[in-house]
Amino acid sequence: MSVPEAIDGTYDPFEEFNRSVGAGVVENPYPLLAQSRAKGPVLKENLEAELLDPDGNAEVGPTGPEVFTAFSYDTVQTVLRDGETFSSAGYADVMGAVMGHTILEMDEPEHHTYRGLVQQAFSRKAMERWEIEAVGPIVDECIDAFVERGEAELVRELTLPFPVNVIARLLGLPREDLPQFHRWAIELISVSFDWDRGVRASGQLRDYFAGVLAERRAHPTDDLMSTLGAAELDGQRLTDDEIFAFLRLLLPAGAETTYRSSSNLLFGLLTNPDQLDALRANRALMPQAIEEGLRWEPPLTTIVRTATCDTVVDGVEIPQGAVIIVNMGSANHDEKYWEHPEEFDIHREQRQHLAFAFGPHMCLGMHLARMETRVLLERVFDRLPTLRLDPGADEPHITGMMFRAPPALPALFG
Ligand code: HEM
Repeated sequence: MSVPEAIDGTYDPFEEFNRSVGAGVVENPYPLLAQSRAKGPVLKENLEAELLDPDGNAEVGPTGPEVFTAFSYDTVQTVLRDGETFSSAGYADVMGAVMGHTILEMDEPEHHTYRGLVQQAFSRKAMERWEIEAVGPIVDECIDAFVERGEAELVRELTLPFPVNVIARLLGLPREDLPQFHRWAIELISVSFDWDRGVRASGQLRDYFAGVLAERRAHPTDDLMSTLGAAELDGQRLTDDEIFAFLRLLLPAGAETTYRSSSNLLFGLLTNPDQLDALRANRALMPQAIEEGLRWEPPLTTIVRTATCDTVVDGVEIPQGAVIIVNMGSANHDEKYWEHPEEFDIHREQRQHLAFAFGPHMCLGMHLARMETRVLLERVFDRLPTLRLDPGADEPHITGMMFRAPPALPALFG
């Protein structure tokens, strides 16, 4: 299915992507998720398709595999922990076609070996260096561009650009290539509603990365691309195609999520000024504020697994080949573990949320995401000490079903 160009011939992949994931259509799915949780921890239903595609034209239709959704915290953990019964290979069908064979779609033992190789690039030492050399300066540059104005739209000017810039800097890409790089990445993850454009962007990214990788192999530096090119485990190296697949995944996995999670956290703080003040006054609360933002409004609410055999979960029979939508948003609001789960409360007692998933595929970039968010908040507090929502602008809301974020955050700090 192809998305028509706008009448004036322009095409904005960012707008199209937001539309496709239900931004603007779904404002608050949490009451519906609570209703589903009350019916059972796992149900034969596909809430997302029903909400976004009420006429039933969704990709997995009546002729496709049976679809179940895991809603409760315990069941989401059970499914994600057991990669043997609940395979990740289903991602290959759509995303695999444009990304290549990525870590996301691998099962054990292949996944374990590959993860061992790529995670060498995400060491604690690398993280410390990235904070000083990439994340801090990039957040500062974004703030420099609007600080004198006394007002800004924080999504467009800060939370959207900064994680893309971080990934590009980690990869050592030339600055002038960034807008094109970002555009290709968004076109690539939009493949489910615009196949041709997604496939084209995939090839363009591959050619682009091939040039940079060849250059780094000839002249290695300390960037992520060089590290991946040289990574070795038990005598095994990554092939070029494995590196390209990983690089293609990095923007959707690392930038799309972090832009949304930091927007959601800022939204939570700005709409709860008492908590914003408490955090400003005591930065030791920072880690728990970051985790609460991720629990309350995870940027990515659902991921998918496929049953490799007939199985039973919480008394529900799941046949081999069935698709299981794992709803981490619902799990993070499970009233069994959180009182008043719909409330944003940085002071609440901490327990592990599932925004980064769980089990073998638990997010590889979670320490980077946490560091990026902390640095963002530190810089915002240091440089925009009176930051508040603009009372004259439209009231912001977090929207979306699978991917959630506020489309805009108009703020004042004069
Ligand atoms: C707040 C920000 C982020 C969130 C909420 C998030 C969430 C997730 C989730 C839910 C998964 C599991 C996907 C699945 O199994 O189906 C995942 C995997 C992954 N994430 Fe993140 N992520 C974030 C940031 C990042 C960053 C910054 C990077 C790297 C630059 C990254 C890289 C990855 C990779 C490589 C995987 C695949 C791991 C595997 O399959 O073993 N993520 N992430």
